[in-house]
Amino acid sequence: MKGFKVTGIKAYQQIVRAVIKIINFGEPETLSGAGSVLKIADWLKERGYRKPLIVTDRGIVQAGLIKGLCSSLDAAGMDYEVFDEVVPNPTIEVIEEARNIYMEKDCGCLIGFGGGSSMDTAKIAAARVTNPRTTIMQMTGYFKIRRKTAPVIAVPTTSGTGSECTVAAVITNSEKRAKYSVGSAKLMPLLAVMDPELSYGLPAHITTTTGMDALTHAVEAYISTIPSKESDRYARKAVKLIFENLETCHADPTNTEARENMMWASFYGGAAFTRAMVGNVHAVAHNFGGMYHVPHGLANAVVLPHILDACRESCDKRLAALAEDAGISLEGSNTREQAEKLVGKIRELNRKFGIPETIKELKKEDIPLLAERASREAFYLYAPPAYYSPAEMEGILKKMLPEE
Ligand SMILES: NC(=O)c1ccc[n+]([C@@H]2O[C@H](COP(=O)([O-])OP(=O)(O)OC[C@H]3O[C@@H](n4cnc5c(N)ncnc54)[C@H](O)[C@@H]3O)[C@@H](O)[C@H]2O)c1
Ligand SMILES: [Fe+2]
Repeated sequence: MKGFKVTGIKAYQQIVRAVIKIINFGEPETLSGAGSVLKIADWLKERGYRKPLIVTDRGIVQAGLIKGLCSSLDAAGMDYEVFDEVVPNPTIEVIEEARNIYMEKDCGCLIGFGGGSSMDTAKIAAARVTNPRTTIMQMTGYFKIRRKTAPVIAVPTTSGTGSECTVAAVITNSEKRAKYSVGSAKLMPLLAVMDPELSYGLPAHITTTTGMDALTHAVEAYISTIPSKESDRYARKAVKLIFENLETCHADPTNTEARENMMWASFYGGAAFTRAMVGNVHAVAHNFGGMYHVPHGLANAVVLPHILDACRESCDKRLAALAEDAGISLEGSNTREQAEKLVGKIRELNRKFGIPETIKELKKEDIPLLAERASREAFYLYAPPAYYSPAEMEGILKKMLPEE
């Protein structure tokens, strides 16, 4: 491995893997079904939580999505505050701002309401509330949050990140133009609310790209080198639900059943990678997000087939099993061909959704830095079926250069 020192990394990987194997990550309580968002006020009251800070973004507020929650909190006589300044790929500054509002307004819990950006902002702001001496950058990596966070409820409005049931959050350091993952069992929300009606108005490209993020979680967890029975079960359920429902959500956005199934697919994808980690797709996608602000789902959707092409041979049996879950006819083909069929089907879905094969912002001169960062991220944090040196990663990234 050229480009950075691997001394010590292998030992570090083994420790992280051993710890992940023995942790009981648990799951959040769940409320699901159309209108379930209206039950949050009672849930909070029954458990003695007070004054939530609703952490969200302007797009969500403008779409009128928090109205139901606010009316039900009013009806329950519960005081609350709204912070609506979350940005996609949330920055350290925005998260600190949310935490400051929480402290100033004397809030008692947080409701991350929106896509992964809003839920992650709520999760890390909650960690900062109870860990005032640990900076956000010091929280990056694994197991760096010492004290239990302030209570967090997660209400997804996209079906992709699974942040409502993961022990992860992803933050952006705008100064370094880089994204960093925070992984800690303390980040698991207390309650996840899967209300399909909240996702009816998602723009088509966000429905599809966030759906491909959920698929990436499930696939990367399933081909990880530290799978467990639990992570396998979650990953396969997610893959099946995504191939059965994502196209319907795209064609018929207010189809309650398909939308609810996608919410569960996202939840299961999150539960899978919480236990088995993600891999090289996320390592590359995070760097496209940090460097160029490429939306997370879109970055994953573009990168997924390229990385699977590169690592297919080292995990063909596992990919063949997922091909079956994807509903692909496998008759008369061997394992290698079945794995290939899955990658072909992912490419076909991308094409149907208008998702390109390249990243339009990618510049040749940035590739060495992006490759070094992605290679390092995978090495330090993930358990993919194959690791790539920065030089090998450069070769993969070049395939994503836009045509001149
Ligand atoms: N914590 C985790 O486990 C985890 C996992 C994967 C990704 N992530 C992170 O999550 C972030 C991405 O989250 P995301 O893909 O859900 O997108 P997002 O939260 O960034 O939202 C994208 C856009 O969609 C809009 N939007 C969301 N829901 C809507 C709705 N129902 N109707 C209309 N507009 C809506 C938002 O206003 C926003 O403009 C990234 O920072 C990524 O790194 C976290
Ligand atoms: Fe993701």
